[in-house]
Amino acid sequence: MEQMSKLPTHVSIIMDGNGRWAKRLGKDRLEGHKEGVESVRACIELCVELKIKYLSIFAFSTENWGRPTSEIEGLWALMLKALRAELKTLMKNDVRLLFLGDISQLREELRAEIEHCKGETAQNKGTTLIVMLNYSGKWDIVQAANRFIKENPGKQLTPEEMDKYLVTAQIPEPDLLIRTSGEQRISNYMLWQSAYTEFYFTETLWPDFRKNEFRLALDAFSHRERRYGKV
Ligand code: FPP
Repeated sequence: MEQMSKLPTHVSIIMDGNGRWAKRLGKDRLEGHKEGVESVRACIELCVELKIKYLSIFAFSTENWGRPTSEIEGLWALMLKALRAELKTLMKNDVRLLFLGDISQLREELRAEIEHCKGETAQNKGTTLIVMLNYSGKWDIVQAANRFIKENPGKQLTPEEMDKYLVTAQIPEPDLLIRTSGEQRISNYMLWQSAYTEFYFTETLWPDFRKNEFRLALDAFSHRERRYGKV
């Protein structure tokens, strides 16, 4: 297949449209999130099959705290359940798990599970799944700048230094950023890291975004010409 020749190293996804998916079917919003977890599973599977090195997903933004408590609690419960249920499969598929964002604000039970999954999968060498949790691009830039100033008094901040202080320091910048559900904006996601990222927007709602939809995005990426400001 032609797309195999130019695959991204890092694909990032803003998973959007769970609520609308549920509403269309007259279901509770949480049913949309539940179905969304199935899409996460499908996308990991495809990354493993195609040997895509990094997949990051925007699971909870710092702005999402503005949602009803019942939805937020439902999301934590869903994540906890998914992590517990999927760890074995992730191990079998050699997937390493990372969580980036301000984890300190999450409830203890979830934080413990996150640490457990991180530890168990730390030595895996296949795809790295990065769950962006309680994350926002502005928050990331500010925490990086503050840490830099604290650790390097009197020194000038450079773009190279900035890269080292962002929570994404250990992973490459995304080559491809997918957003589902027809919204065409970045919504305070990886603002610094997406300077040269290719964007792919689709009308498909996240719960309907499965392997075939993902392949379409990868195929579109394979036809993009990236010039990085050069000719
Ligand atoms: C956006 O849809 C979706 C979210 C804010 C949450 C997505 C989270 C998951 C699918 C769970 C992640 C799972 C793991 C295993 C880490 P929306 O609610 O904004 O949809 P809407 O715009 O239609 O209302």
